[in-house]
Amino acid sequence: MLTDHVRQECFSSGHLAKIIDNKDILASVKRIAAIKTDIVMGNTNNYDKLKMNNSIAVIQGDITQQKVDAIVNAANNSLLGGGGVDGAIHKAAGSELLKECRKLNGCATGEAKITKGYNLPAKWVIHTVGPIWYGGSQGEDESLASCYRSCLEIAQQQQYQIKAIAFSAISTGVYGFPVERAARIAAREIQRFLESNNSLEQVILVCFSKSSYDSYLSAVNQMSERQLD
Ligand code: APR
Repeated sequence: MLTDHVRQECFSSGHLAKIIDNKDILASVKRIAAIKTDIVMGNTNNYDKLKMNNSIAVIQGDITQQKVDAIVNAANNSLLGGGGVDGAIHKAAGSELLKECRKLNGCATGEAKITKGYNLPAKWVIHTVGPIWYGGSQGEDESLASCYRSCLEIAQQQQYQIKAIAFSAISTGVYGFPVERAARIAAREIQRFLESNNSLEQVILVCFSKSSYDSYLSAVNQMSERQLD
């Protein structure tokens, strides 16, 4: 993803092209490294000529406060609320959210359903149900991957006009999924989606704790380095 943007937008006409022209290789390597870091941190709006269709950002924060089009809730099969991020989202959204969830008849693990956001800054909440971790031999990886695919499939639907979406760290709390493993799955599935869809302009991974943030940022970094190889 990065090499395509660098090749298309910077080498041809922008600031980077001038650096290359006067053969300042060290400056150009530093510039590309800066581009990669900004992509990972989602700070892509300060590029000359680098028009990013989409990028993955990792932040530490409270997903209920994110001013995006949709937030992703780590729910349970009943969709009737709970603790953790599910409890926080229902509390912030207000009672109307639970009323709408009651009409959805639950949600299978690995699948997702969308509701309005009500009192949340986000217009939509996409509820997905991650797998409970039983040690890795019960198809947990695939179920978690399916959560990301199901949410992104809903997010790209024209009717919702979703350009920016924020994910919580699905299954890594009460459900006990190992954080680094979950982060790699999240980064991989989101990247695969962004490579073949440009309906989203930004995907944000919102981590509540510093340790979770470090794991997800590392996973996104490692994935973008693989893109450069
Ligand atoms: N904003 C962002 N992330 C949060 C917030 C918040 N306000 N609150 C908690 N988190 C983080 C947790 O720290 C964890 O990293 O969300 C991640 C997912 O943890 P859980 O909320 O426990 O979700 P999960 O592990 O998928 O378990 C789902 O827990 O809350 C119940 O009803 C839910 O039964 C379901 C189960």
